[in-house]
Amino acid sequence: MNHPVMQGVNVNAPTSVKHARLLAWVAEVAALTAPDQIVWCDGSEEEYNRLCAQLVAGGTMKKLNPELRPNSYLALSDPSDVARVEDRTFICSEQAEDAGPTNNWMAPAEMRQLLQTGDNALFRGCMAGRTMYVVPFSMGPLGSPIAHIGVELSDSPYVAVNMRIMTRMGKGALDVLGDNGEFVPCVHTVGAPLMPGQKDVAWPCNKTKYIVHYPETREIWSYGSGYGGNALLGKKCFALRIASTMGRDQGWLAEHMLILGVTSPAGKKYHVAAAFPSACGKTNFAMLVPPQSAYAGWKVTTIGDDIAWIKPGPDGRLRAINPEAGYFGVAPGTNHKTNPNCMDSLQRDVIFTNVALTDDGDVWWEGMTDAAPAHLIDWQGKDWTPQIAKDTGAKAAHPNARFTVSARHNPVLDAAADDPSGVVIDAFIVGGRRSTTVPLVTEARDWVEGVYMAATMGSETTAAAAGQQGVVRRDPFAMLPFMGYNMSDYFQHWLTLGATLQKAGVALPRIFCVNWFRKGADGKFVWPGYGDNMRVLEWMLGRIEGQAGGVENAFGVSPQYADLRWDGLAFTAEQFASVTSIDKAAWAQELTLHDELFAQLAHHLPAEMPATKAKIQARLAATA
Ligand code: GTP
Ligand code: SPV
Ligand code: MN
Repeated sequence: MNHPVMQGVNVNAPTSVKHARLLAWVAEVAALTAPDQIVWCDGSEEEYNRLCAQLVAGGTMKKLNPELRPNSYLALSDPSDVARVEDRTFICSEQAEDAGPTNNWMAPAEMRQLLQTGDNALFRGCMAGRTMYVVPFSMGPLGSPIAHIGVELSDSPYVAVNMRIMTRMGKGALDVLGDNGEFVPCVHTVGAPLMPGQKDVAWPCNKTKYIVHYPETREIWSYGSGYGGNALLGKKCFALRIASTMGRDQGWLAEHMLILGVTSPAGKKYHVAAAFPSACGKTNFAMLVPPQSAYAGWKVTTIGDDIAWIKPGPDGRLRAINPEAGYFGVAPGTNHKTNPNCMDSLQRDVIFTNVALTDDGDVWWEGMTDAAPAHLIDWQGKDWTPQIAKDTGAKAAHPNARFTVSARHNPVLDAAADDPSGVVIDAFIVGGRRSTTVPLVTEARDWVEGVYMAATMGSETTAAAAGQQGVVRRDPFAMLPFMGYNMSDYFQHWLTLGATLQKAGVALPRIFCVNWFRKGADGKFVWPGYGDNMRVLEWMLGRIEGQAGGVENAFGVSPQYADLRWDGLAFTAEQFASVTSIDKAAWAQELTLHDELFAQLAHHLPAEMPATKAKIQARLAATA
């Protein structure tokens, strides 16, 4: 076999790297993409500071006022590159039906032609004039049996510094990989090669974008975007799309779920994993501060805010870990009232992207404070004042503006956040953003009913993905944009896992469905949300303990007004009714949307889905 250097490429690897497949792959990608140089990231602080300084010198990032926001930066992206691009995301399995009707699909050979092998292959020479960073990372604690290693080759130093915060990145991951370990190869380019002498722009990207997954060979190729989940490939591409296919094959689950711990005043601790779609409240729920007046002695701690890997433990009970090491969270709407723990996490060592810059060199976003500053530089680098906002509707921060920060900065980080064996899950929650129809909280009567709830969940689209916003779409398990295989097979995987564990006598987690987002006639949210979601969480724990009351309805069990605790909150029975009422006509309409989903997913759709729907329909018909 040729040594990589003999292929005409100096891969510039540290001498400690002896992993032949890794070296050969780096050489192969470098030969294709033609970077000026290759830099292997060691994950050190020195390297982080150096790359940040380089990003500042190049105009991608601005260093914030160190007095106000120590060791923190602001990056402003190209206005065309601000969110995940779902219509440019592909699952390239050999068979189209393995990607399923909810994913974009192209045959692997055809996609490789387009990206890698064809005459005008997009990756050919795409890194010219740039540095290729070799970014080794671990999803999950270093060396843990549940962790998996990836290596991202990227021509974006912004990606490299974000990956250092979001994953266990650098030398530690390389050490785990050793001479022959398995890794998921991830190739990323902003798709903006530089001609000799050509000046770079602050946020290079390409209007052509491809976010491509080959599930069978477990590879990721991402072209044209530098933003978020399009570019930080450990996150949605690896930890959800590729990992979901690994989980299907190996009997575990990769989910778009937060994981939290909640401890009662008596010292009893529970763990909950919750699937809400993008920008629907996972980070907030994972860092929840219980209302002081009523919940003294209760404590919520964070294990993860976006992704959960869930496996049956030695006793069969489902255990969850957070494969990530940091938070890439939504900034707008975050403030000291809605999420004080998050605000405390953001005091230093943060990379902000697409928020506004204050005149004293700090950051601001919509909802951070009641009154906006008199003058800002907005996320597009333009002058912004409250008057300009009034006149033009210009937002200071992009609605999908985000922060990148280490989980270590979270004041309520759970002691088990790094525990390789994970935490035992007592309850799953699913929930979408629905201004009507879906009640505040419903408990599924059994696992199948819970899977049905999760599978048929709808949510109004948000700014986390490019495209129209506020449109209700089905988002099964909050995984619509993140499924690496056929959605119906995924429903079956959940059903089979539950049935297998139940047969083995294992107590399954309860499943609940929530909706924090019902609106009143005034167009405002009726439910106070945030910390007050503790009241709903307490009801769930009460249900688990067999203590909390509830009444059966067409699709599960819901609390009555008296079943929740209201001390310290003025929330009337009428208001409660307006967030919990079940409108028969609206539900008849809702069920037709379930039908549409099932028609789309007919291939391999588990029989339990239409059967559960039929029961709901019958019960609904029987109600007054
Ligand atoms: P991703 O990182 O995109 O996966 O999103 P996420 O689910 O972590 O969403 P996040 O917690 O960042 O919340 C997104 C938006 O929803 C923010 O603007 C929040 O202020 C808002 N939000 C979160 N929780 C609540 C709630 O309980 N009620 C209301 N009304 N809004 C909420
Ligand atoms: C989401 O969109 O669900 C996110 C942000 O968590 S991104 O990493 O861009 O996918
Ligand atoms: Mn997410």
